[in-house]
Amino acid sequence: MTSTSTSSPHQFPEGSDAFPHRHLLGIAGLQPWEILYLLKEAEQWVDLNKKSSKHADRLDGLTVINAFFENSTRTLLSFEIAGKRMGADVVNMHAAQSSVKKGETLIDTAVTLNSMKADAIVIRHASSGAVQLIADKVDCPVLNAGDGRHEHPTQALLDALTIQRRKGDISGLTITICGDVMHSRVARSNIYCLTTLGAKVRVCAPPSLLPDALDRMNVESFTNFDDALAGSDVVMMLRLQSERMSGDFIPSPREYHYLYGLTKERLKNAKPDALIMHPGPMNRGVEIDSEVADDLERSAITEQVEMGVAVRMACLDILTRKSRGVEGWS
Ligand code: NCD
Repeated sequence: MTSTSTSSPHQFPEGSDAFPHRHLLGIAGLQPWEILYLLKEAEQWVDLNKKSSKHADRLDGLTVINAFFENSTRTLLSFEIAGKRMGADVVNMHAAQSSVKKGETLIDTAVTLNSMKADAIVIRHASSGAVQLIADKVDCPVLNAGDGRHEHPTQALLDALTIQRRKGDISGLTITICGDVMHSRVARSNIYCLTTLGAKVRVCAPPSLLPDALDRMNVESFTNFDDALAGSDVVMMLRLQSERMSGDFIPSPREYHYLYGLTKERLKNAKPDALIMHPGPMNRGVEIDSEVADDLERSAITEQVEMGVAVRMACLDILTRKSRGVEGWS
């Protein structure tokens, strides 16, 4: 397995000018150097996370609330581990056990979280825009852990870090995102992130799962997977997000696999060293075959999870610098 250094010769603005945002709600609107700064900062945490003692005291005494109104395994765990490794007190709120089930409005929940004096709030919600609504009501930084089909910024950042470490500079790479683009916040955030960093992004899906908005997103759309794969450096597969579908978007999972499933045979259309990615959870045998997902040389899927912790540590660190009074960030 090769690993290319991510240290870029890029000169970053000083202090808070390097990332002058209060929240991380999405990738849209971020400047390339802001994204690269987050990735550069994440590198130090990748190194720490490989050690046997993984404790840093940077967020000592701070409280991070993970408010998850939608199911999650890796994102919730990853944010929890990130906060704990940096010394913060991390509290998880699961909507299923919260007053949301008793009819409390999102704004009342936000006001409640705010009164508890959190230093950062991480939110996942099924509605696009819900995270912004909460961010407008609280005094601390808010990190979007996925809102509806809108954005999932830390996923795009961890994907970019994974690609950068494996392939070097992202600029000029051909990256194909295939699957349920229509319902995917991962696709949207990745499109913003990778195009901002200069990649050529292709998206591929059945016509029923290709959103119209793609015309404005600086990507090339395909409905034929073999055509999309030709010359690809990276192949990112997406799950069919049936929880966000009303009605049938595909004839059957079997037919979908036949046309859009990543098999060993089909992968031959991409570059011989093309990297395989998937944000998880995977539906093996539907969008991706196990033979491909578990290929230790080509698949970066477990590395994506590893990079997720480092990226979230960097985001928590950077966004709390102002409240911690870090020099240059007040
Ligand atoms: C993604 C999500 O929740 O949007 N998963 C994740 O965060 N790792 C993708 C998905 O659910 O398919």
